[in-house]
Amino acid sequence: MSDHSDQTRTERARATLRANDRGGYCVPTARLYPFQWNWDSAFVAMGWATFDEPRAWDEILSLLRGQWDDGLIPHIVFHAPSDDYFPGPDVWQIHHTPPTSGITQPPVLATAARQLLERAKDHALAEARMATLYPRLLLNHRWWQQARDPARTGLVATLHPWETGMDNSPAWDAAMARVPTTTETVIRRRDTAHVDPAMRPRAEDYQRFIHLVDVFRGAGWAPDRMLAASPFKVADIGTNAILLRAERDLLALAERFGSAAERAEIAARIAGMQAAIQRLWDPGLGLFTCLDLIGNAPVRVGTSAGFLPLYGRAATAEQAAVMAGTMQAWAQRVAWLVPSTDPAHPSFEPLRYWRGPIWAVVNWMIADGLAQAGNAGLAAHIRDTTRRLIEAGGLSEYFDPTDGRGVGGADFSWTAAIYLLLTDAAAG
Ligand code: GLC
Repeated sequence: MSDHSDQTRTERARATLRANDRGGYCVPTARLYPFQWNWDSAFVAMGWATFDEPRAWDEILSLLRGQWDDGLIPHIVFHAPSDDYFPGPDVWQIHHTPPTSGITQPPVLATAARQLLERAKDHALAEARMATLYPRLLLNHRWWQQARDPARTGLVATLHPWETGMDNSPAWDAAMARVPTTTETVIRRRDTAHVDPAMRPRAEDYQRFIHLVDVFRGAGWAPDRMLAASPFKVADIGTNAILLRAERDLLALAERFGSAAERAEIAARIAGMQAAIQRLWDPGLGLFTCLDLIGNAPVRVGTSAGFLPLYGRAATAEQAAVMAGTMQAWAQRVAWLVPSTDPAHPSFEPLRYWRGPIWAVVNWMIADGLAQAGNAGLAAHIRDTTRRLIEAGGLSEYFDPTDGRGVGGADFSWTAAIYLLLTDAAAG
């Protein structure tokens, strides 16, 4: 491949971020997702940082304009009105400026902030931004523990599939079956007007998603009441592994920006999470699983989130080797890694959202974890796979693991960001 075409592709990825820029923040893609999304923005900030550091810091600061006083960073910040998305601010009914949703998403932000700082060329800007950010990140991590693990089990609870970022993963099927399909809110889906309904969550999934929002709004968005009232409560292995990684990155930031007491506090949370995540290892499946906190039972479905303890630095060397073998076994059934669901599982659907397709952000985290665990070969393979998927399938929302086709929405910010990160690392 010529330098010229590599440059063109990099320029196209940058142009996608610029096109999705709404003034200091990126929408995930035009139309389908017209606001700022929490974990998307963390990846997007790292993508911006490869060519525009001030804009990268702005992405994070814009997201934090949605942070609540108690530390919650909402999953959506509604900076500007749009009719293209349901449920909008009128359904959430949260009194915050700017308006926000009332649930969260996997906390990648401290990890992104640390990467921006450590790779910064403009040190003065990075130091100044980080000094502002550090207390906000600390407040957020305290929120996770107080709101979602008040009993100090070492695992935070997720109360809505949207909080996992993996909306309709088969890992939620059994737990979601308990959630009634009745809603107070009138459902007016907009997503199926933008994307083929066969790829999107089904109607009854949506009714349950909205039922949960109705329950939380009825609880006045108070964390303790939400935790008590939610008919869906899981310890998501993805969220917990990502939070553990974020805590490790926050601890590194606290060396420079925090106090000794804060470092001790963060280190204690890390120790608790590390031990608790170990209990989610499933030797039979060869990866980590989620825990249904209502049924008090492990969720024995292999999903790509089950590999994320690698990224969280929570897996032992033996577990890392077993997980590499599990990925190789999955690769016998699909052409491309890493499908979001075990391709041997009956729930595997290669085209339907989180039930099979490959997501670039998840691959990026898994590759990072494999590299850290010493498996440079498989890490390089997954990075190379992801890059080739994007080069052939475009900056798509996700990819079909059977044929590598780009599917879902087009011109996605976080796919562009991952492309920039993969090619930047290759260059460096
Ligand atoms: C979908 C995805 C979620 C993502 C959002 C915006 O809801 O499941 O992970 O953050 O779209 O891209």
